Amino acid sequence: VTYVLTTIKEISAHVGKEVKVGGWLYNKRSSGKIQFLQLRDGTGFIQGILVKKQVSPEVWEQANHLTQESSLYVWGVVREDERAPGGYEMDITNIEVIQIAEEYPIAKKEHGVDFLMDHRHLWIRSPRQQAILRIRAEIIRAIQGFLDENGFTLVDPPVLTPSSCEGTTNLFHTKYFDEDAYLTQSGQLYMEAAAMALNKVYSFGPTFRAEKSKTRRHLIEFWMIEPEMAFVDHEESLKIQEQLVAHTVQAVLANCKQELKTLDRDLSALENIKAPFPRITYDEAVELLHKEGFADFTWGDDFGAPHETKIAESFDRPVFITHYPTEVKSFYMKPDPNRPEVVLCADMIAPEGYGEIIGGSQRIDDPVLLEQRYEQHALPREAYEWYMDLRKYGTVPHSGFGLGLERTVAWICGLDHVRETIPFPRMLYRLYP
Ligand code: 4AD
Ligand code: MG
Repeated sequence: VTYVLTTIKEISAHVGKEVKVGGWLYNKRSSGKIQFLQLRDGTGFIQGILVKKQVSPEVWEQANHLTQESSLYVWGVVREDERAPGGYEMDITNIEVIQIAEEYPIAKKEHGVDFLMDHRHLWIRSPRQQAILRIRAEIIRAIQGFLDENGFTLVDPPVLTPSSCEGTTNLFHTKYFDEDAYLTQSGQLYMEAAAMALNKVYSFGPTFRAEKSKTRRHLIEFWMIEPEMAFVDHEESLKIQEQLVAHTVQAVLANCKQELKTLDRDLSALENIKAPFPRITYDEAVELLHKEGFADFTWGDDFGAPHETKIAESFDRPVFITHYPTEVKSFYMKPDPNRPEVVLCADMIAPEGYGEIIGGSQRIDDPVLLEQRYEQHALPREAYEWYMDLRKYGTVPHSGFGLGLERTVAWICGLDHVRETIPFPRMLYRLYP
């Protein structure tokens, strides 16, 4: 053979040579004597030019029958072309059809969201969805790269758990033989155990919340990155969070230019994202809300999406809201020693209305105080016996946080809804496909 099998992404290495590419027909135009075949292979798009006079009648005939998403091999000579979107075209010498596709349901017209969600397994082939999934992969790579390079060890917590971490109202129940079990809401409690074994650790995995809320920020199944750090206090944890997020945004800007362009993302909003990030206390946030038209917001309430959006509007980068009322937060958060009605915690609120992307805190290290929390939070004490051991055998100050991957992807990509940030979203009333 004189050709090489290549992908569209790598085609620039083969200018002037004949290559073979496996792909799908994305679009086709014909002028009677010339057919323009737009191919996609998952790595990119390229136009192939088929001239009737220059190929056998069988090849011409096969090309005539190609429908959208038909699968095929194409042979052709690579040519540089400034006008082509990817910079290259192919002069086709031969094609081999693998399958003529049935009429493709996702035409290039507008479809409703429900229709697209029902066809999510096909929808992900579209340029926009491909771009989002590539950026998601880059975000994961950047986050893991940052943590791996900063001394964190990856530890995998279990998915099936006997207890709750973030309250009992949205636990996802299942049977575990004769026992009751829950899909994990957060790996945190296990990561605390891991931090006592390995110092700086992080997990990356799916988490589950049976949330009855149908919003553009909530999924039933979402992925979290959860770092946990021994001997690190609340303040030090915030520094790591802002560096992690700034690094991630800059990595996407550097490595996903084409994808951000496909999404029409406003880059200037992302270029600002550099550490340090502003910090305001919950008290200051409440004051801000009172001035900004939320006059009846009372101290002690939790923020909802409209509140977070309003607070974020004052800043050009993510903002930390710190020191929430102890009452509204989880059982394990350490109270501020100077003011026990608030906890040493922070939520990181993304700009542009994307809401909370990180929740984190310093953890209670005092066994006596932690012991009181189970009753206050109506948690079954027996299930936390092992967790109490972490405070009996060399308790230390420690902190950690959870970064919600899908909300981070939605923000960086500039999407209206988290449903496009994950290949197969699990949402209220949607388990298919
Ligand atoms: O604030 P949350 O509930 O914090 C925890 O689970 C801690 N145990 C994490 C830790 O300290 N290790 O959740 C963390 C993040 C939120 O900031 C949000 O980005 C995301 O997880 N998140 C969701 N994302 C999509 N859909 C949902 N239903 C989400 N719930 C939380
Ligand atoms: Mg939270």
